[in-house]
Amino acid sequence: MTTSRTSANASRTGANAARTRPASTKPARTNAAAPGTLDRSSILKLTESMVALPTLPLVATRLLRAVAQPDTAPDEIARILSLDPALTARTLRLANSEFYGFPRRVGSVDLAVVVLGANPIRDLALSASVFRTIGEADALMEDVWRHSLAAGVAARILADRTHYRLESEAYAAGLLHDIGTVVLRQTDPARFQAVIAMVRDQGETIEEAERGLFGSCHAEVGAWLAEHWGLPADLVEAIACHHRPETARRNPELAQLVHVATSLAERAGFAWPRGVARRPIAPSAFEVVDADERKREALLETLVEDVVRETEREQELFAEFRGSQED
Ligand SMILES: [Fe+2]
Ligand SMILES: [Fe+2]
Repeated sequence: MTTSRTSANASRTGANAARTRPASTKPARTNAAAPGTLDRSSILKLTESMVALPTLPLVATRLLRAVAQPDTAPDEIARILSLDPALTARTLRLANSEFYGFPRRVGSVDLAVVVLGANPIRDLALSASVFRTIGEADALMEDVWRHSLAAGVAARILADRTHYRLESEAYAAGLLHDIGTVVLRQTDPARFQAVIAMVRDQGETIEEAERGLFGSCHAEVGAWLAEHWGLPADLVEAIACHHRPETARRNPELAQLVHVATSLAERAGFAWPRGVARRPIAPSAFEVVDADERKREALLETLVEDVVRETEREQELFAEFRGSQED
């Protein structure tokens, strides 16, 4: 098992490095979010009642900026990881674990990144950082975390399938797409519980229920938070538009990937909120999977199987990475 995982990771890294796309096919990146995606006044009103906003570790912010750059060198990833002693220790422990079973001791982060692969290590470090922010404080946040991890994995699978040039960016966008939920929950847990009840009992979508009770929805709040953290504008937009990918302007492909990924995560058994009716996939988002309409359901079934398998692997790998250390 360890060997196949290593080779799968290595091929993922290699495939990612080999993929390039002409710069002209993508708009230039700036730090401006897509117009009209953020309703600042209602978000400000909402967040001013919070004692503290969720934080993202500095290392995660740097890794997330690095995912927006194609072909980040492994030594750059190692340099960023080295800024965080806990991530450094985890990386070295994983590289030396029976999980991988390398015959020689891996003594430096640089070497660990080379032998484990820059992309898998970057994804794990991101997962660990986002996990610190989402946490598993209770069953509800545990569901959000499982859904987020599965959506990250699904986005990475879709990125691989569609030759999207930045698999780690897709993973990060999937992982963070529902991050606004953390803000709403922290702002007013009882009101958030009422949102869930409205979704379950009255069949409203979660955004409708959130707008009704909070004046804003998790997609808007999450994008606002991502912007506040200084994350790349494409990630901000993907978070803002993950339920309405047709509204994305900067990088519609990433928003489509995340939209389909969140649905695949639901179908794979990692639904959030749990036990509510499955939402249809926006027709425009199917462009990204490029499926013939007649073959769509069959393709989705295959993708769901991939998501189940890969999410289980990622969970196992993440558990190994986290080990017994507390955040
Ligand atoms: Fe969402
Ligand atoms: Fe979601």
